[in-house]
Amino acid sequence: MKNITHLEQFQKSAIKIIAISFLIFSPLFSFAQKYEANWESIDSRPIPEWFSDAKFGIFIHWGLYAVPAWGPTDAGVYDKYAEWYWSKLMNKDSKVHENFKKFHHETYGEDFKYQDFVNGFNCEMFNPDDWAKLFKKSGAKYVVLTSKHHEGFTLWPSEQSWNWNAVDVGPHRDLAGDLIKSVKGEGLKMGYYYSLYEWFNPQYKENVDAYVDQHMIPQMKDLVTRYQPDVLWTDGEWDHPSEVWKSTEFLAWLYNDSPVKENVVVNDRWGKETRGKHGGFFTTEYDLVHEGIKTGTFQRAWEECRGIGGSFGYNRNENLESYSTSEGLVHILIDKVARGGNLLLNIGPTADGRVPVIMQQRLMDMGNWLDVNGDAIYGTQMWEKADANKQDHVFFTQKGNDLYVICTKFPEKSITVKNLKGAKEVSLLGFEGKVKYKAGGSSVTITPPAVTPATNPCDYAWVFKVSQAL
Ligand code: GLC
Repeated sequence: MKNITHLEQFQKSAIKIIAISFLIFSPLFSFAQKYEANWESIDSRPIPEWFSDAKFGIFIHWGLYAVPAWGPTDAGVYDKYAEWYWSKLMNKDSKVHENFKKFHHETYGEDFKYQDFVNGFNCEMFNPDDWAKLFKKSGAKYVVLTSKHHEGFTLWPSEQSWNWNAVDVGPHRDLAGDLIKSVKGEGLKMGYYYSLYEWFNPQYKENVDAYVDQHMIPQMKDLVTRYQPDVLWTDGEWDHPSEVWKSTEFLAWLYNDSPVKENVVVNDRWGKETRGKHGGFFTTEYDLVHEGIKTGTFQRAWEECRGIGGSFGYNRNENLESYSTSEGLVHILIDKVARGGNLLLNIGPTADGRVPVIMQQRLMDMGNWLDVNGDAIYGTQMWEKADANKQDHVFFTQKGNDLYVICTKFPEKSITVKNLKGAKEVSLLGFEGKVKYKAGGSSVTITPPAVTPATNPCDYAWVFKVSQAL
């Protein structure tokens, strides 16, 4: 029998170890979970943590509807949406059809077709770097742009949308591609809204299965493969069940084989039966939630979306009284985050590519507040003892062992918080002075410091951090 030396023995063992390691760690043999095309499997995928940590995003509704930029302001929530202009103009059954028809005929004439608005959508002042810098200053951590709304017009050169996209016509510019480059350049996450249906696409109206196979799925895969978005925010799902949209097949591809399979985040709008039940994070809209789900907190990541005014698309018909104040917007952010959710706050740019100045101001005010108080928002979780500590104008978030007591009105008297493990220190975020407190047993009583205009750390809401409280 051939005697083999120790060295040869070691070499043979080393080769075996390297070979086995290769097999285990090689992407070809990776044992990463494979998701199947059914909701039980798709729903088992954890929502990437970055989303819940981010808390605050910017929604952007931009399309041909930015040219008329008009909707009624004295109507129901959904009837104020300026991005629904074409549908309300054509749909005689809509409660606000006459409003849109009157405005359209008086402003553009009876023969002016919605498609003609493409000649007004020039975006000549669009500067994606300026937008990205504004979003960064707002304190938002992610941005979601309408890549295609219900009108079917795409903001990128989609071959499925020949001559009905922002490169073939209108601005002759890849708006979606230019913006994702600038936003990611500022270190923010960037994703796209995508409408599953298209109001007046003949193929959609005549043969939805062919539309899904030949138009929608190839278009979505092109959007994902071309730009690698961090978020895919679907909508326009209500006409059909998810089976017709082939949503689970698409999501299996997105999670198993797409270039964004590791970190992409999606929402719950994948079929008429899925909101609040399937997909990724759950969505609410102007606090409207879905049948059977109370407004409270969900046992899963969730996100409230709304405009600064009453519309997602820019609505020239709105005046100041239609717009939330900066204080109101900060309070909305606090309310959602304290209940475990995110806020996706919408802006509606103009047809020439500007963010309306009032919207810029609101975003800057939110960013200034978050500069001081972001620790109480980003990366926090809902405090499960918040309900036991209910008191007016007081909200709670937690991060590790620290508790944040967020006061949307500066407290004039002491605040007592119960159900604690102790309190190593109490501070007022952004305030340099000392904060007096009394920790006893499982509660802490905080005495708000006297602040002056010179020492006041911020406007709108004030945060006491109770260190080592939990
Ligand atoms: C509704 C509207 C749509 C808007 C969306 C935002 O689904 O149809 O106009 O884009 O809400 O959440």
